[in-house]
Amino acid sequence: MKTRFEKVRKHTTGLCENIPKDLMSMQPRAEVSPPKWHLGHTTWFFEKVILCEYFENYQVYDSEFHFSFNSYYKSAGEHLSQADRGSLLMDCEKIYKYREYVDQHILELLNNKNCENLKHLLEIGINHEEQHQELLQMDLKAIYSDSIDTYPENFSLDSNKKDQWFKITEGLYTFGYGGSGFHYDNEGPQHQRYQYGALISRDLVTKSEYQNFISSGAYKNPLYWLSKGWDWVCENDVKSPLYWDESDMSLPVSHISFFEADAYANFMGCRLPSEFEHELLDVNFKSSSKLWAWTNSHYSAYPRFKKFDGVLSEYNGKFMCNQFVLRGGCAATPEGHWRPTYRNFYEPHQRWMYSGIRLAKDL
Ligand SMILES: [Fe+2]
Repeated sequence: MKTRFEKVRKHTTGLCENIPKDLMSMQPRAEVSPPKWHLGHTTWFFEKVILCEYFENYQVYDSEFHFSFNSYYKSAGEHLSQADRGSLLMDCEKIYKYREYVDQHILELLNNKNCENLKHLLEIGINHEEQHQELLQMDLKAIYSDSIDTYPENFSLDSNKKDQWFKITEGLYTFGYGGSGFHYDNEGPQHQRYQYGALISRDLVTKSEYQNFISSGAYKNPLYWLSKGWDWVCENDVKSPLYWDESDMSLPVSHISFFEADAYANFMGCRLPSEFEHELLDVNFKSSSKLWAWTNSHYSAYPRFKKFDGVLSEYNGKFMCNQFVLRGGCAATPEGHWRPTYRNFYEPHQRWMYSGIRLAKDL
């Protein structure tokens, strides 16, 4: 576990290695965090959750960082608001020193203590940092698109289109995580649900398919849109997906909001899959999805859901309001996060993440 910890920490700094200095502090929009904030926040997480609790007589590196780098954990005290992360003045060198300080103490603690709870918390910290590695890549795309540089995306979104529909036979199925490995609290407990017969597309919708939606004037036709979606289109004068360009139209359409995904499904005479239908698809095909797929499932608790303990109870559960679940994973998703039960979630208007569309229809 020590090796994994060191590898994950190194990978995050590696992702920041070639970012121009001025972009490290940039926050083009409230939902996008500056790269240096990710470096500090992932470090604060280990400090707050592990060192402050388990390291005897631990001296925090800088108490001001507990304000700056706490994301939203209200039980951990006051914190900088998300929209103000771009106003952080401390330079990156200080944050790199903070990372070194916390890493040294975590490694020292691991040499001296070996309790199960510590391992569990370290596992959450590692998975948390990996989630931020993915977020960082989404944020970098937004940051670069606002500057003169082009984002050097280091993965491809090739589609390998097969035009295959996966058939779900009507019946009772078990959902949620049932293994013994790491998983988030929101993936459990396992429970049964009755599914009706349906088809779900294995392929993601391509840009050329989506172009038909745009060309038909769908962004001007309220009949395809949810009421809130139509308001969002009008208020923001939305005409196409974020970062839309007409190169390589065989790629899957990405950076799509839930509102757009839902409207496109209507346009096609289909619907979005539920998160449970998508889970069955992932169980059967070990998803190699290049984009997170929107589902029509509201992000809410499974029956008999239990949050993580203590401060970490704020990790997932408190966001179960006004968000929708995305399933699968994307090209920037870390290796160990590919699980059929993994639940990602965003607000319906958000689209700076690597999100795409799969269609479903009833049988
Ligand atoms: Fe976080």
